[in-house]
Amino acid sequence: MIDLSPRIVLRSRSSVVRLMVPTDANFMGNVFGGQMLMEIDKVAYVAATRHSSRTCVTASFDRVDFLRPVYVGQVVEFDAWLTYVGRSSMEIAIEARAEPLLGGPSYHVVHAWVTMVAVGDDGLPVEVPPLQLATEAERTEFEAGRRRMEARKRTRNADPPPRAPVAPAPPVAGQ
Ligand SMILES: CC(C)(COP(=O)(O)OP(=O)(O)OC[C@H]1O[C@@H](n2cnc3c(N)ncnc32)[C@H](O)[C@@H]1OP(=O)(O)O)[C@@H](O)C(=O)NCCC(=O)NCCS
Repeated sequence: MIDLSPRIVLRSRSSVVRLMVPTDANFMGNVFGGQMLMEIDKVAYVAATRHSSRTCVTASFDRVDFLRPVYVGQVVEFDAWLTYVGRSSMEIAIEARAEPLLGGPSYHVVHAWVTMVAVGDDGLPVEVPPLQLATEAERTEFEAGRRRMEARKRTRNADPPPRAPVAPAPPVAGQ
């Protein structure tokens, strides 16, 4: 049985440091966006799992802004924290900063919001502990997160994903 008493943001805040190597990048040395997405997904997963003490799945990546390029040889730190918690879903903000391996100023390269949902052994959503808000900034961010979550629900209901186009059947010989 999971303890459903409120948990503070700092309890689940998570970060990971990653050195960017040639296999992360194209032939010009620019790191692929997909490599960044993989790290974002993993650090968001750790934050959501720490908060909920449950297995979590990625429900959506609804916004990722790549602000500046990332290059091979840079060290990137991904920092994730919960901004909003619903019944079973958690919104996680992720900020990534890059800096040269040998030192130098770091700069903000990516910002993303990811929604993770806690699931039980049957894969169905389960309740998670609420977020205990400790500062005015956390309360403001939580209200903004609530609005974003409501907007996501409206979009999901009003704007279902498109179906892949189906190629017309080739003409049958002799017809
Ligand atoms: C995410 C998932 C568990 C939701 O299950 P569901 O039966 O649709 O659940 P519900 O409609 O009851 O929604 C449960 C919660 O998820 C949220 N949710 C569902 N789909 C969502 C989406 N696309 N984006 C954001 N939140 C979503 C709901 O808002 C709800 O939040 P709340 O409990 O805090 O109010 C289910 O769609 C799933 O398993 N998806 C695959 C996830 C996965 O495997 N990810 C890895 C990719 S390989």
